[in-house]
Amino acid sequence: MATRRRTLLKVIVLGDSGVGKTSLMNQYVHKKFSLQYKATIAADFVTKELQIGNKLVTLQIWDTAGQERFQSLGAAFYRGADCCALVYDLNVSKSFDSLDNWHEEFLKQVPSLTLLYTEQANPSDPKTFPFIVLGNKVDIHGGRSRVVSEKKAADWCASNGNIPYFETSAKEDYNVDGPFLTIAKTALANE
Ligand code: GTP
Ligand code: MG
Repeated sequence: MATRRRTLLKVIVLGDSGVGKTSLMNQYVHKKFSLQYKATIAADFVTKELQIGNKLVTLQIWDTAGQERFQSLGAAFYRGADCCALVYDLNVSKSFDSLDNWHEEFLKQVPSLTLLYTEQANPSDPKTFPFIVLGNKVDIHGGRSRVVSEKKAADWCASNGNIPYFETSAKEDYNVDGPFLTIAKTALANE
């Protein structure tokens, strides 16, 4: 029997408090959703096994705290990241505006973190680090209360290195699996 290599991919999920990072992960991994909000403190991870082609992939998904008071802890968890998912709430303009900040702050950490983590001689180029953007809560009022248009979000993604963009609902399990599969494939391609 051919030996199959198992690959571990580390994904960091970032975004403002309340955009639905924890909910997206719970829906993806446990197929559960709760309307009750419980702030994530610092960070935590869950894993999910995926089969991509003939590769077994373990996605290690790090759910971070969006609340500002926990953010100084954040960067410590970025170490060894293979991909970063940026999440905003389509109904909250500020959470979209914050993407610049999350993106920049993460990129600042990439060169040193990659050096610390890998044995590679050349750390990945921050400009080509794989990101993905999720516009969450597309279910609210059937999308009528959204304040960020699909075009605006897609333009932001295009001008930041052609980042793949998805609109999701953790509540209705809409478009949740697809982005995580894209994350895994993107990170694998960068291996
Ligand atoms: P922090 O841990 O503080 O960073 O927040 P978070 O980004 O993890 O948000 P969380 O997943 O805790 O969700 C915040 C609130 O939004 C909760 O009350 C969720 O039930 C709700 N929520 C999350 N996703 C959705 C969604 O897709 N649709 C709707 N309607 N509500 C959602
Ligand atoms: Mg959370």
